[in-house]
Amino acid sequence: MSSKNFQRYTITAALPYANGPVHIGHLAGVYIPADIYARYLRANDRAVAFVCGSDEHGVPITLRAKKEGATPQQIVDKYHGLIKESFYQLGISFDIYSRTSSPVHHQTASDFFTTLYQKGVFEEKTSEQYYDQKNEQFLADRYIMGTCPVCGNKDAYGDQCESCGSTLSPNDLKDPRSMISGEKPVLKETRHWYLPLDKYEKWLREWILEGHQEWKSNVYGQCKSWIEQGLQPRAVTRDLEWGVPVPLQDAAGKVLYVWFDAPIGYISATKDWAAQNQKDWVPYWQDKETKLVHFIGKDNIVFHCIIFPTMLKAHGGFILPENVPANEFLNLEGNKISTSRNWAVWLHEYLQDLPGKEDVLRFALCANAPETKDYDFTWKDYQARNNNELLAIFGNFINRVLVLTAKYYQGKVPARKTLYSIDEEVIAKLEEFPLRIGKAIEIFKFRDALSELMDLARLGNKYLADTEPWKLIKTDAERVATIMNISLQIAATLAIVSEPFLPFTSAKLLLMLQLDLLKWENAGKISILQPGHQLGESSLLFEKIEDELIEKQVQKLMDTKAANALENKVVTPAKQTVQFDDFTKNDIRIATILAAERVPRSKKLLKLKVDTGFDQRTVVSGIAEHFEPETVVGRQVSILVNLAPRQIMGIESQGMILMAEDKDGSLHFIHPPSTISNGSAVS
Ligand code: 2FM
Ligand code: ZN
Repeated sequence: MSSKNFQRYTITAALPYANGPVHIGHLAGVYIPADIYARYLRANDRAVAFVCGSDEHGVPITLRAKKEGATPQQIVDKYHGLIKESFYQLGISFDIYSRTSSPVHHQTASDFFTTLYQKGVFEEKTSEQYYDQKNEQFLADRYIMGTCPVCGNKDAYGDQCESCGSTLSPNDLKDPRSMISGEKPVLKETRHWYLPLDKYEKWLREWILEGHQEWKSNVYGQCKSWIEQGLQPRAVTRDLEWGVPVPLQDAAGKVLYVWFDAPIGYISATKDWAAQNQKDWVPYWQDKETKLVHFIGKDNIVFHCIIFPTMLKAHGGFILPENVPANEFLNLEGNKISTSRNWAVWLHEYLQDLPGKEDVLRFALCANAPETKDYDFTWKDYQARNNNELLAIFGNFINRVLVLTAKYYQGKVPARKTLYSIDEEVIAKLEEFPLRIGKAIEIFKFRDALSELMDLARLGNKYLADTEPWKLIKTDAERVATIMNISLQIAATLAIVSEPFLPFTSAKLLLMLQLDLLKWENAGKISILQPGHQLGESSLLFEKIEDELIEKQVQKLMDTKAANALENKVVTPAKQTVQFDDFTKNDIRIATILAAERVPRSKKLLKLKVDTGFDQRTVVSGIAEHFEPETVVGRQVSILVNLAPRQIMGIESQGMILMAEDKDGSLHFIHPPSTISNGSAVS
């Protein structure tokens, strides 16, 4: 890591597409860590420009507009407002939340392109691309479907076959069709400008692979693999009406590729912020003493570590990112978050359904932040984080300190008297916490930082439990004054160091302590609250979250699942990744059904006798509504043979027959195309 002590920071958070609301995956991956970082730096008196805004160009926005019978501008206006407001309500402290359809951005992106063009950076190439004659538009790779030349899947995309995983180009597809009109597209010549990444490969190797070995291993690893595969020139223009027009003659109907203009949006946003606040944006992008940090999700790594830095380098004069602490993905209740399947917790809905619980979400998402691997958000965990940590540890400590001070000293801070060794130990530990929390934040280990914060609250609780001031009050008032003074100093430090993570809680606590928000350097000291200082009214920082509230949210997700199944979109979203070793624990074999009968008093169950090749066993299977017993005898099936036996309706079931459920709910056996030996392993 660069050991430089930067005084100025430009912090960017990925610009969300303005064609849908923000969900918890975005928050855990990008916006909460970025906000913690920005708030921490401000508390340390650094000059910070924390910028973000809506990414308002690109094909999906034009398609959405078409579908809704609106203009692209109407679509982005709607979501820009919603996203901006919900970020604000969650306390994400952007210095500016701008947008890429703004005139400042159009001008900035256009000038950027012109500079590169005039420097002769681009390669100009004419190629044949698919064109939808009905809609009179060229088709992005993702909007062409056809038959995969590798596996024959009829629904392969122009850039990838999701069935066999092959990377494709649209020209590889057999029987291509436009996803927009369904018609067969034609090939048509078109001219575009390309950023020759191949020419920057050597520089990228030096700059990232040698110069930034401190980057997170997931980020460094992805960059390494991109560079080692060999970089190709990338088109930075598109044939489209919506976007920043290509500022060249003879380029009518062409715009800058959304991934070319979006990162320039960080610069435009900084300009907007500077203009609104009588600041100069230039040092934030051009002074080598400024640290530029991009917060993004893992799907954006190549754009922020390879393409945008190449653009900045080619342009000249701009600083490059010092770090790109990209996170992995957050899953929801065991399944991948999916916008199209509505499998998400949407921020604007959360704020409406659970008002006043902004910090609980911030806490739960930071505690589960997918910093090194994908993580799972569950409503049960959210409830436990609130009830067992925020309320039972943080809230409980603050409440005890304030209630006791009110009771013994009418809310006035008592003076410390003689210090015992237990006091000195606590004071020494207290002093270390802000340093440890700060260090973890500086190296982007936000989960560790949060866990340190909770350890500080634990320290406070333990101190009170060990010293028991409520027992001493009648016999040793002097001692109690010391204990309460130190406990109050811990509470004051908590108010300062919790601010980046839990800004609403910190504000509430500061009000109770009648303190202004102090800089980080004050935290850990025992002179924050002076004797005689009058505290304010105390109230509970957190309230218990009851099962009912959680069940409502879980039910909402269940309803989504049911609605998806009905709409036949996909039966269930893709499950979380499993490790190979976990998968190989399943012993799946081919077997033959020898006998079948209905299970008495059950509509759904059949009792099957199967030959697994090494034994004959009984399996109870829930297929009776789909198959008559006599029709399954003699069939080969796949069976999970090492599933722990279970009693079902009084019968011991020894394994599970594997079935595929089609979109219409019909069940199908998984079997080899022709008979093979029973006991053959499936792997
Ligand atoms: O992946 C996304 O959501 C993009 N809209 C992120 C853009 S980040 C930046 F380059 F603007
Ligand atoms: Zn394929």
